[in-house]
Amino acid sequence: MITNETFPWDGWREREAAQQPQYPDTNRLREVTSALRSRPPLVFAGEADDLRTQMASAGRGDAFILMGGDCAETFHDTTADQIRLKIQTILQMAVVLTYGASLPIIKVGRIAGQYAKPRSSDMETRDGVSLPSYRGDAVNDFAFTEEARVPDPQRLLDMYQYSASSLNLIRAFTKGGYADMRHVHAWNRGFTKNPAYARYEALAEEINRAVKFMEAAGADFEGLRVVDLYSAHEALLLEYEAAMTRVDSRGGEFYNTSGHFLWIGERTRDPEGAHVELLRKVRNPVGVKISQTATADDLKRLMDRLNPAGEPGRLTFITRMGASNIRDMLPPLLEAIKDDGRPVTWVSDPMHGNTIATASGYKTRDFDTIMDEVEGFFESHRQAGTIPGGLHIELTGDDVTEVIGGSEHLDELRLTERYETLVDPRLNHQQSLEMAFRVAELIRGF
Ligand code: PEP
Ligand code: CO
Repeated sequence: MITNETFPWDGWREREAAQQPQYPDTNRLREVTSALRSRPPLVFAGEADDLRTQMASAGRGDAFILMGGDCAETFHDTTADQIRLKIQTILQMAVVLTYGASLPIIKVGRIAGQYAKPRSSDMETRDGVSLPSYRGDAVNDFAFTEEARVPDPQRLLDMYQYSASSLNLIRAFTKGGYADMRHVHAWNRGFTKNPAYARYEALAEEINRAVKFMEAAGADFEGLRVVDLYSAHEALLLEYEAAMTRVDSRGGEFYNTSGHFLWIGERTRDPEGAHVELLRKVRNPVGVKISQTATADDLKRLMDRLNPAGEPGRLTFITRMGASNIRDMLPPLLEAIKDDGRPVTWVSDPMHGNTIATASGYKTRDFDTIMDEVEGFFESHRQAGTIPGGLHIELTGDDVTEVIGGSEHLDELRLTERYETLVDPRLNHQQSLEMAFRVAELIRGF
């Protein structure tokens, strides 16, 4: 039954909402959101609370966050193999980082809900034909036809189903022994056997000795066998995110049950806008993407709105400033927020400020530039005396050729081989592992 009931978190409807699809069929939209409201939650309030506590420990320097996954998940690629390879890549990176940082690694996937994309332009033009932009499988279809690009509310229900089946598989993989640190480490041995990555062999050998030591000492505890992998996505589509927001039976507080961690993108982070208004009402840990254009005042206004009391772990700033800007732009922001005193967890997204187009028209990123931004992030925190809390990257478990560079010297010509992303270029499996080794070295030196 469709009702006109309003909910305590519906204040966003009175605010400016950027990047929303214009659905021609509003009746169908109301049917869909009403159906979503009666579906079971995808994640549970207690899990979101646990993650918030862990984000707080990363903010203090007692843990490090690894967030990674697709720029845009697609329905077609939500398959057992693709999910398994992505999880495997995140877990392999986490083992290297755990050793390098001597800290617990908080593992968060851009997975099981990352189906909607903000776009710089409402229209896409090809050969003189202009059609509405692709906004992710949760909104419309990538095919370049008039019909495919019409926003279809049914896709919100499809996103729910795909997210639910992904989460089911993720829970099975991470709780069933597949993610055992000893298996994951054995996969990493394969990586360093490749001569291109010989320089990481010494670190891999150290990890190997540590794992052997634990085995010999009989450290056969659950902690090695079972891992927590949390789910995160950009909370972009307000109708979906609001329909998945629920009252927690334990204490009457509100939680967004579509994912454990939700972030607000660079294009929708207006402190007075609808996205901030909706996430302001929920208890989940939330993030905001921060580009080189943000001022200290912008950040404080976001803190006032999203975390006025300064609860640790509640708010994460994910900086994506570009390698050439970060060393100038980040330190003053870190100083200003340090002076404010309310805790923030700082995470580096070295991907979104470093996208380039090749002469042949491919959207790519250079591995060295990505690493340069990560280094700039660590340097800025060292300078300000603040804590670099984690890494947020776009990756896939497959051998795609979308990002150039890295020790295998992937060049522009090879972009044609396996360029599969529908939106932003992702690190492939090997590049992701290489980044983990490089960041492990950086953390050790911090
Ligand atoms: C993204 O994370 O895919 C994205 C669009 O990021 P941003 O909002 O930082 O541009
Ligand atoms: Co992206």
